[in-house]
Amino acid sequence: MSELQDLVDEAQRQFTICNACRYCEDYCAVFPAMEERRLFTEGDLGYLATVCHDCRACYQACMYAEPHEFAINIPQLMSEGRVLTYERYAEPRWLARLFERARGTLVAAVVGAALAVALVFLLATSADSLLMGNEGPGSFYTVFPQAAMLAFGLLLAGWAILVCVVGALRFWRDIGGPTGGIRGPRLWRRAIGEAATLRWMRGGGGECHFPDAEEPSPLRRYTHAAVAAGFLLTFGATVAAAIEENIFGILPPYPLLSVPVILGTVGGVMVVLGCIGFLRMRREAPAGLAAPQTASLGLAFTWSLLVVAATGLALLALRETDLMGPLLLVHLAAVFAFFLTAPYGHLVHAVYRSVAIARNVQERASSEPGPEPRSEVQERDTALV
Ligand code: HEM
Ligand code: SF4
Ligand code: SF4
Repeated sequence: MSELQDLVDEAQRQFTICNACRYCEDYCAVFPAMEERRLFTEGDLGYLATVCHDCRACYQACMYAEPHEFAINIPQLMSEGRVLTYERYAEPRWLARLFERARGTLVAAVVGAALAVALVFLLATSADSLLMGNEGPGSFYTVFPQAAMLAFGLLLAGWAILVCVVGALRFWRDIGGPTGGIRGPRLWRRAIGEAATLRWMRGGGGECHFPDAEEPSPLRRYTHAAVAAGFLLTFGATVAAAIEENIFGILPPYPLLSVPVILGTVGGVMVVLGCIGFLRMRREAPAGLAAPQTASLGLAFTWSLLVVAATGLALLALRETDLMGPLLLVHLAAVFAFFLTAPYGHLVHAVYRSVAIARNVQERASSEPGPEPRSEVQERDTALV
């Protein structure tokens, strides 16, 4: 029997017990969605697993966790479901298998970075230009030709977007999402709000039990907000730089008080601090409440984000020195490696989680309210729609 089928069977066993118990139904959106189902398919498992935000409140509360013979462990089951979902929807399959385990992701990241650096050397006009330092506007392009930078960037970003969009559409279909997506600005607002604020990481109001099982805290949500917002700001910096260059004809490097540099610096610092926070949390987190691959995928992703942000900040700090050329190469190699591995690593959680949250918002809105709403969560949501 396949690994996936084994997991679906185990999910059927645990979810059936939860549906009889219902103690955790106010903790998050997973349990009310579970109660709507009796038989669980692969799609249901992927859906519930990606709505679960790993707050671990249900494990802390569960009277049927080990040593009880029922051995209920919803956070671990969900993390295994997420790993299989991320693997299953990444295309092409042979490439996905290559990246399958975190070790593959790390190796691919390193190989990708090394290849990128080698290509840079081949494309660079001359070895001398590498060490000539900042000689004013356009000096980045004497280290790495502008056309090559654009071609690499567009190709890799385009590839990552294509793989993610195809996977997201297949996932939406498999979890029962209607063709045409969710409808109406109110549902969109709620879906974006729930994804952006990590609503379901609050453990039903008691906050997240990761990494400290005994002392729930909002720290993980705040750390995530810093990383995700910082990432968006650095993306904004790239867009601003493209506008400066292509619309106003001003070539990089840009002055310290320019929009690209301010956005990039603030975003970069937020990503670095947030990633360091996540790495510390991972060290403190107890084992056994997540699939082993989850930790490795998360670590590989957090490290690759950290390297991209840290090399970008180092380039900014040292761009007036002879180190500008080598640092630009290292930073570009890190960015290329990040995009190369993006569709097969943990970054896709942002895609599949957003899709599952949208489906969940839509499902809650369309479920007929009974005479007595079953939970506070449903009552609140019914009132909102
Ligand atoms: C768009 C909606 C997003 C949602 C709903 C979301 C949700 C989550 C959740 C629930 C976790 C903890 C469980 C897990 O590891 O899966 C997490 C972890 C994480 N997220 Fe997000 N995320 C989103 C976007 C992003 C973005 C845009 C970034 C930055 C590029 C990001 C970076 C991270 C990092 C670094 C971790 C920690 C990885 C680890 O330590 O394992 N997330 N996210
Ligand atoms: S996790 Fe445990 S306590 Fe919570 S609903 Fe399931 S069986 Fe009940
Ligand atoms: S979000 Fe928290 S309470 Fe809900 S299933 Fe996941 S770990 Fe359990």
